[in-house]
Amino acid sequence: MSLLTFLITAGPTQEPLDPVRYLSNYSSGKMGYALARAAIKKGHKVILVSGPTSLSPPPGVKLIAVKTGLEMYRAVLKHFRKADVIIKTAAVADYRPEKILRQKIKKTGKPLFLKLIPNPDILKELGKKKRKNQLLVGFAAETQNGLHHARKKLMGKNCDWIVLNDVGKRGIGFGSDRNEVILIPRNGKPVPLRKASKEKIASQILKHLLKSQGHAH
Ligand code: PMT
Repeated sequence: MSLLTFLITAGPTQEPLDPVRYLSNYSSGKMGYALARAAIKKGHKVILVSGPTSLSPPPGVKLIAVKTGLEMYRAVLKHFRKADVIIKTAAVADYRPEKILRQKIKKTGKPLFLKLIPNPDILKELGKKKRKNQLLVGFAAETQNGLHHARKKLMGKNCDWIVLNDVGKRGIGFGSDRNEVILIPRNGKPVPLRKASKEKIASQILKHLLKSQGHAH
């Protein structure tokens, strides 16, 4: 079996507001780290670009720790060219505060308005740059009309596969130890993966991706 290089992103991003506050989300990094572990177990090389989590990096991965969406963008673009398979599990903040204040924001008792500006869409950028022999896999975290929105992301971001995660369901998705997803290929039928540990879901995802590439898994 030929060894592949995986570039995997995991965890949330933190978008600072002032020296003591940030905007973020509930991603724990568990799904992305499970994918990294599954790839390492199969003997592949893994570059893991991770937002802040409380997890220990799986032994053998090259960990690149980042905080913000912009840092993740730069790290991913830097390592993208050497990757055969790119899996974007991270929950990147779509917006960041326009200004990072140097001093702590003081309480005034009046409403406070924040101006947010868009972060770069890393996956979309990779979709534009990807080579024919690179496999680009996105995730879609949805709470309604999942298949419709996931397919839109698959095509709009030029992915080869998208992993639909219904994050409105209890007991799976953000923060949970278990997950349940639908793997949607660009060409072909969606593959539902039944509720299981994130470790198991990760190895099933890997198996399907590698099979589609004609690799033994
Ligand atoms: O970390 P866990 O607690 O284990 O939870 C796992 C998970 C729920 C975070 C994971 O399974 C998941 O669904 N990840 C995708 C989260 C997300 O932000 O999805 P999205 O639908 O908003 O984004 C679509 C895709 O674009 C994702 O691959 C995302 O990484 C990417 N993206 C999004 C915004 C942005 N600015 N740049 C991006 O690259």
